[in-house]
Amino acid sequence: MNTTVIDRAYFLRQAAELSLDEYDVSNWFIMQNDAIWPYMARMRDEDPVHYTADSRYGPYWSITRFQDIKWVDTNHQLFSSAGSIGIADPVADFDTSSFIAMDPPTHDVQRKAVTPVVAPRNLAELEPLIRTRVASILDDLPVNTTFNWVERVSIELTTQMLATLFGFPFEERHKLPRWSDIATSGRHSGYVNSVEEARSEMMACLAQFTEIWHQRATEAPGFDLISLLQQSADTQDMIERPFEFLGNLFLLIVGGNDTTRNSITGGVLALNQFPQEYQKLNQNPALIPNMVAEIIRWQTPLAFMRRTATQDVELHGKTIKKGDKVIMWYVSGNRDERVFEDPDRLIIDRANARQHVSFGYGIHRCMGNRLAEMQLRVLWEEIHQRFEKVDVVGEAKRVKSNFVRGYSELPVRLIPKTA
Ligand code: HEM
Repeated sequence: MNTTVIDRAYFLRQAAELSLDEYDVSNWFIMQNDAIWPYMARMRDEDPVHYTADSRYGPYWSITRFQDIKWVDTNHQLFSSAGSIGIADPVADFDTSSFIAMDPPTHDVQRKAVTPVVAPRNLAELEPLIRTRVASILDDLPVNTTFNWVERVSIELTTQMLATLFGFPFEERHKLPRWSDIATSGRHSGYVNSVEEARSEMMACLAQFTEIWHQRATEAPGFDLISLLQQSADTQDMIERPFEFLGNLFLLIVGGNDTTRNSITGGVLALNQFPQEYQKLNQNPALIPNMVAEIIRWQTPLAFMRRTATQDVELHGKTIKKGDKVIMWYVSGNRDERVFEDPDRLIIDRANARQHVSFGYGIHRCMGNRLAEMQLRVLWEEIHQRFEKVDVVGEAKRVKSNFVRGYSELPVRLIPKTA
């Protein structure tokens, strides 16, 4: 099926016309066409624990209501993360494990080892550096010319931050988002042409980080992620388990990349779709911290996380069988009208914006949430200093994925502040 973004109307129609038994929301064209909303709304209302019997990933359950998502995410004894948190099962001969796809106790010790990198003290130390980098990116932008916000700002800023977190050679930083894109989007994305090519890119990533690991081991202990892995008794021999090392690298690269990048773009898009909110921002920049939470809710950069049932579980009169795949659709929970009034609107002073589930819930709740929020806050503070408006002047292009809710293009023009 060669469906493209022009098929939005088709997908919106299908949401109403299909019977629920025919629903398969793992079809990435639905998300790429930004047509997911009526599918999710119908499942929330009519069948909040919905079974799709057949899909390219096999059968799966969809959990679509906010409270149910939190319940599943909290009950990690019933719903395991082991094996995979993606809808596809891992490729058997190329299994890169990482702590996001592990249960306690291994999850807990590995998470604990890398958490200090995002501790409040470290974030406070990072903030001036982020502000300098943001300022220099914004000051380099062309005024009165159309350009792609995704490339010039969202990707550039998150890539610079990743290089800093890993102590990765700054001039080679553009390798990081490429590896992230390959890891999340796979073959059908166009980033690579075959499984072999993807594999060889992953091995190149492993080789370069192995070199960095050995180099770092000869230096004084630092506060970058590689140094922290080396300093913790629980992870200092991770290099001897290359696939585990690679898996954790990808977790941190992807965690810090697509998510923040697409929140940066999503914020600009949303403020343009709701101009009265842009006005509120210009009149009252003190709203920025709350606006950041609201942007992350509205965008929901990762559409879902998957769990696997460890035993038979009853929910809303349905029996989820041991071994079944369970998808928690954060993208739906964040638009659940039972919790968020007028949920499809961006409302930058929304009272309960921070309650969103974009960062998940429970023991796997996003480790980098404060870092992501800080990057977005600093960015919007600096944008506010310089520009009256980041004006969207063309169509947003979305990435082909059912997992990452992201953009490849957003044409904008900058309107500078008048003195
Ligand atoms: C707006 C930005 C971000 C969003 C929306 C986001 C979203 C998520 C989600 C949904 C999870 C899984 C939660 C669950 O299963 O309950 C997660 C986990 C994680 N995120 Fe983020 N993330 C963001 C930024 C970051 C950044 C900047 C980092 C880098 C440090 C990061 C690192 C991680 C890690 C390491 C985990 C695994 C936690 C665990 O399994 O215990 N994330 N994130």
